[in-house]
Amino acid sequence: MLVFKTKSELKEHLQPAISKKNIGFVPTMGALHQGHISLVKKAKQENEIVVVSIFVNPTQFNNASDLTNYPKTIDADLKMLEEANCDVVFIPSVEEIYDENVNSENFEFDGLEKEMEGKFRPGHFDGVGTVVKKLFEIVRPTNAYFGEKDFQQLQIIKKMVVKNNLPVNVIGCSIFRESDGLAMSSRNMRLTQEQREASPFIHKVLLEAKSLFINEKGNGICKWVTEQFENQPELELEYFIIADEENLKEMKTINENVKYRAFIAVFAGEIRLIDNISLT
Ligand code: PAJ
Repeated sequence: MLVFKTKSELKEHLQPAISKKNIGFVPTMGALHQGHISLVKKAKQENEIVVVSIFVNPTQFNNASDLTNYPKTIDADLKMLEEANCDVVFIPSVEEIYDENVNSENFEFDGLEKEMEGKFRPGHFDGVGTVVKKLFEIVRPTNAYFGEKDFQQLQIIKKMVVKNNLPVNVIGCSIFRESDGLAMSSRNMRLTQEQREASPFIHKVLLEAKSLFINEKGNGICKWVTEQFENQPELELEYFIIADEENLKEMKTINENVKYRAFIAVFAGEIRLIDNISLT
């Protein structure tokens, strides 16, 4: 496994492969867990060369302390990537990606950026779009892999690729969970023991909401979910929304031709956890 810190070294290494071999790319912010590794393994199956980037992107954080406190576990990350047979790791500095201009581009994602996470994290998706576009230009991947854990991010990246005519296939990967159902996240390691024990409830509620949706066609589910969290002292519901998978608009009345997904954000103390489930 090769590790590069500069664009020029990485490009020089990948140059001979471009348009001859499939390059699979998994962008990450490090603090890797098995959820990230599941993306790397899928990329390994579908490409001759797999590149993983580790870059804590400053422009997507709307809270300065979140950025400074973002966990950094580079040695453990490299060990996990080596074990997953990753070929190339790119670990650039902020200057390497942004030069002097640590700012976001302003994107138009046809309103996708205004729903759900967009309401709670202003500017976040412009930051994500900016860094992913820059990384695509450097790596020039055939296929790029994103988790459905961040479903809104996945849809936004797909939109950016179409709107900018970028020559890359964006591939969504299913959510990788702990054995008790909690979606894997680098934030889980910051949960207290009580919060950790309470948090599989989030997935349990999503599963029950799914069966209610299938049996009762959506009626009263949001109210039912809100009530479930009233008896959970460790967890505070921020939102539960059923939305159209394509445009992420909240479902008002059910349309048989639309694919719906339930999205949830919950606070366990200071830690914000998100999850989602396909309803169809
Ligand atoms: P990060 O949070 O490190 O996640 C990197 C990728 O791993 C994302 O595509 C995310 O959806 C995926 N992922 C995280 N947890 C997962 C899980 N439990 N199951 C499946 N996939 C999971 O998302 C980012 O970084 C950044 O916004 C980035 C795209 C790298 C841009 O900076």
